[in-house]
Amino acid sequence: MAKVAFLGLGVMGSPMAGHLAKKGHAVTVYNRTAAKAEAWVAQHGGARADTPRDAARDAEIVFACVGNDDDLRGVALGEDGAFAGMQRGAVFVDHTTASAEVARDLAAEADSRGLGFVDAPVSGGQAGAENGVLTVMCGGEAATYARVEAVIGAYARACRLMGPAGSGQLTKMVNQICIAGLVQGLSEGVHFAKRAGLDVEAVLDVISKGAAGSWQMENRGRSMNEGRFDFGFAVDWMRKDLGILLDEARRNGAALPVSALVDQFYAEVQRMGGSRWDTSSLIARLER
Ligand SMILES: NC(=O)c1ccc[n+]([C@@H]2O[C@H](COP(=O)([O-])OP(=O)(O)OC[C@H]3O[C@@H](n4cnc5c(N)ncnc54)[C@H](OP(=O)(O)O)[C@@H]3O)[C@@H](O)[C@H]2O)c1
Repeated sequence: MAKVAFLGLGVMGSPMAGHLAKKGHAVTVYNRTAAKAEAWVAQHGGARADTPRDAARDAEIVFACVGNDDDLRGVALGEDGAFAGMQRGAVFVDHTTASAEVARDLAAEADSRGLGFVDAPVSGGQAGAENGVLTVMCGGEAATYARVEAVIGAYARACRLMGPAGSGQLTKMVNQICIAGLVQGLSEGVHFAKRAGLDVEAVLDVISKGAAGSWQMENRGRSMNEGRFDFGFAVDWMRKDLGILLDEARRNGAALPVSALVDQFYAEVQRMGGSRWDTSSLIARLER
């Protein structure tokens, strides 16, 4: 069993750290809002630290799952950051969905300090984190990855090294590109079925077994039909992810016309008050 630290006990991080504790790893947690860390220790045991640096001090692996690039730099770097507390040879595993650029920067900084770094964004949402069945897309050196793969298995159904630092984030960008257009298509399908006077649930039930079937259809079709969005993966987070991948596309020359359009649709959902709604709320702007 490993001695590990977990930084960021949000919707995703809290259950992920819980799975590590359940597997028998010695977990020290840090959360910016200390009350959440206290509640986590009361539920799972382990220890709590006041700074990322203190949490990371004796850890073989330091996990992080915070919001964006700036948050990640905040917990990793600086006087109280994790890197300042980590022992040579320890590995920092970042589960935040962030840019490939910040992953490459932190990997280089870690290397200069004798530390390992793996960018490891996840897919599977809150339910995936709670049930320990996330998909994890990793970037880093093979030898470093080999040291963390089994520990990540505490909350993953699939975990794969995709290439050097940044490759995990680039793979997550592909994931989000594939989701963006699909959710718009599903929104239009459900919207059309309603206007056509069809039994929407029956429609989804039958077409989900054919070529139109998808995770989004299985898991979001019914709630879209009911107009329920107060759960799941927030529109604000999706806009962050679309911003990251559209920036990357400007650099690598990829053409992403549908992703760019869907980003604007999500901006409309935000203006409708849907910043924290699930991403399936794209249908709401069709039904205003
Ligand atoms: N939710 C999902 O379905 C989902 C799915 C896949 C990927 N993700 C990605 O996973 C990451 C976390 O998502 P989440 O849903 O767990 O978010 P969340 O519930 O908002 O949690 C964010 C966590 O980061 C911490 N944090 C934010 N800014 C910080 C800073 N500057 N310094 C230190 N800590 C900071 C927060 O601390 P406080 O408690 O103090 O606010 C909290 O612990 C995001 O990158 C998201 O895109 C989310």
